[in-house]
Amino acid sequence: MTSHYDKGYEKAAHLYDIFDNKDNINFFLHFASEAAEIIDIGAGTGRIAIPLAQKGITVFCVEPSPAMRREFVRKLSARPHLSKNIRIMEGDAMSFDFGRTFPAAFLSATFDHFLDDDERIASLTNIARHLQPQGRLIFDVFLGLMKNSSLSPAGEYKEGNKEYRRFVGGKLIPGNRKETILIFETFESGTLIERIEERSLVGIIDRENLHKLLKKTGFEVQQELSNYDRTAFKRDDKLLIIEAMKK
Ligand SMILES: C[S@@+](CC[C@H](N)C(=O)[O-])C[C@H]1O[C@@H](n2cnc3c(N)ncnc32)[C@H](O)[C@@H]1O
Repeated sequence: MTSHYDKGYEKAAHLYDIFDNKDNINFFLHFASEAAEIIDIGAGTGRIAIPLAQKGITVFCVEPSPAMRREFVRKLSARPHLSKNIRIMEGDAMSFDFGRTFPAAFLSATFDHFLDDDERIASLTNIARHLQPQGRLIFDVFLGLMKNSSLSPAGEYKEGNKEYRRFVGGKLIPGNRKETILIFETFESGTLIERIEERSLVGIIDRENLHKLLKKTGFEVQQELSNYDRTAFKRDDKLLIIEAMKK
C-alpha cells in the first residue's frame, strides 16, 4: 500500500518547531506516564516524542514526511542518549505496522489530515489493532475549520539577527476539505533570505460523525476536552480533544 499523507510539510520542516510550539507536552505526558510505552502517530519533528522520551517513556513514532523525519533525526542526534527510547518508522496512520500492541496511542494535530471517512475508518481501525484491550487513544480535532480565511500573520520570532514570520490562510474546497496556505519568511539583518510557500489539506468533520466513526472502529469515548489545560468540551468549542478507550 502506498503511503498516503499530506505533502505540505516538505519545504518548511526546519521551521516547524519555531511556530508550532503549542503547550500540549505536559498534557500528553500525563497520559503517557500511565503507559510507559506509547505510539505517536504523525510524530513530526519529535516535538512531543522527545520530551516524553526524556521522562523515560518509550515512544514508537510513525511519520510519513521525509522532511519531518529528517528534522526529528537531526534533533535526536544532539541527544544520542534518547535513541534507545525512540523508534521512528516511515509510514502513515492507515498502514503502519509495529506487529504488537501498546497501552496508548497519541495523535497531535494529525487527525485533521485524514481527508474522508474511508481514511478515518482505515486509520482508526489500524490504531485499534495496535492497542491492548482498554488501551487509550488520545487525539485532537479542529472543529472550527469551516470558514475561508485570508492570508494573515500567524506568528513571528526573533533570534539574534534572524527574524522568522509566518502567514496562514485557508480556502474551503469541495468534499468537506480545506486547503491551508502557509507562507514562511526568514529575514537576516532585515533582508529576506528565504520565502517558502506550503499548501496542506485537511478534512472537515463534525463531532457527531466523529463519535459514530469511533464507535464503528471499536472505541468508547471516555473524555472530551476543549483545551490542553483539560477544560471540559462545550458545544461550539473549536478544538475537541478526545480520550477514547479500545473496547
Ligand atoms: C501538524 S503536524 C503535527 C506533528 C506533531 N504531532 C506535533 O504535534 O508536533 C502533522 C503531522 O502529521 C503527519 N501526517 C500527515 N498525514 C498523515 C497520515 N495520514 N498518517 C500519519 N501522519 C500523517 C504530517 O507529516 C505531520 O508531520
